[in-house]
Amino acid sequence: MAGQQRVLLGVTGGIAAYKSAELVRALRERGCEVQVVMTRGAREFIGAATLQALSGRPVREDLWDAAAEAAMGHIELARWADCVLIAPATAQCLARLAHGLADDLLSTLCLATDAPVYLAPAMNRLMWAHPATRANCEVLAARGVTLLGPGIGDQACGETGPGRMLEPQALVAAVLKDPAGPLAGRTVMITAGPTREPIDPVRYLTNRSSGKMGFALAAAAREAGARVVLVTGPVALATPPGVERVDVETAAELHEAVHRRVGDCDIFIGAAAVADYRPREYAGEKIKKRDATLTLTLDRSPDVLASVAALASRPFTVGFAAETCEVERHAREKLARKQLDMIVANQVGPGRAFDTEDNELLVLWPEEGCQVFARAPKRELAEALIALIATRSRPEDAAVVP
Ligand code: PMT
Repeated sequence: MAGQQRVLLGVTGGIAAYKSAELVRALRERGCEVQVVMTRGAREFIGAATLQALSGRPVREDLWDAAAEAAMGHIELARWADCVLIAPATAQCLARLAHGLADDLLSTLCLATDAPVYLAPAMNRLMWAHPATRANCEVLAARGVTLLGPGIGDQACGETGPGRMLEPQALVAAVLKDPAGPLAGRTVMITAGPTREPIDPVRYLTNRSSGKMGFALAAAAREAGARVVLVTGPVALATPPGVERVDVETAAELHEAVHRRVGDCDIFIGAAAVADYRPREYAGEKIKKRDATLTLTLDRSPDVLASVAALASRPFTVGFAAETCEVERHAREKLARKQLDMIVANQVGPGRAFDTEDNELLVLWPEEGCQVFARAPKRELAEALIALIATRSRPEDAAVVP
């Protein structure tokens, strides 16, 4: 139960430590007990009094705290925790844990606990990219430690790139065993990104999808409390915290991956741009440049969305429609033809929908149901869309939604 979950929150010495206060508050709001353990470096960035007031527990800082250690305090804390979350986790922290050092309270706790350990790295992008940090991350991942992020964006040092600590809400969604929210207890499958249909060993057919819309939906569904399975084509995006990711390449692989798991799902959202056609023949060797023209014969690939909607015991099925013109007419036609519960239409074209940060959506459902989501960042749209899907997928609620 989320209400009883005990989170040991380690705070290390990086500028992102200012977000730890918000993180404590967010964990407490979701019913967690939070015990903060700070390193000496963290004290340079945030005061223990703030974290103590928000967590409602004295902050532990010192391995040599005589009063606490008289009762083997570090072992007690290690046993107390249902999970250990270190946020921010600096490059120094990753290195100490990778080497199994135990010379301060936090690193000692990490050795002494058998609870899951989550790290939210935060550092300059070059420190994150450094081979030493890469090697430390590999060692930690191989030991079962979960790395959450980092995110990509502007950094406190004025640079831009990977190294930002994930936002507190995303970290909460990742560590809560049973998050509360409108989708709590429900399993959502989302497809995202493009597919690649191979022509020969060096060439393939694909499209402009970046996966951003589908990944934003996965993050929002997780934060709404769902178990989320994200089946994605090839994209350059980090997995949202707490989301189970399945990587595929072709439409046929996507079809297979979806049907292997969809039986457990309550909601299916097809945001992937799946190739409608694939080359009939795969040339085992690179096709040589010989004639002035080259003709490829293409066959229809399986329609994943329609096949999910056709299941006898189907999830609430939501499709997307990427249209260049007559968006509403084409989307309504797809909604009816594929027998969907909902369709999310977006106009595509230069600078629109594909590989953009923003989007605008027209959401349609049977019996003339309609809602417009004005242009906004994909993450905001995803939250609004997930809230609508959460409501409409409960039959008793759908009836009263305008
Ligand atoms: O990934 P981004 O860069 O963020 O861009 C987002 C997006 C534009 C890709 C997304 O918002 C979107 O519109 N996704 C659906 C793209 C698409 O393939 O649309 P469609 O109208 O061709 O397909 C209709 C629906 O059928 C879609 O849900 C699609 O996933 C599904 N489909 C299509 C073909 C096929 N063989 N199998 C399918 O399941």
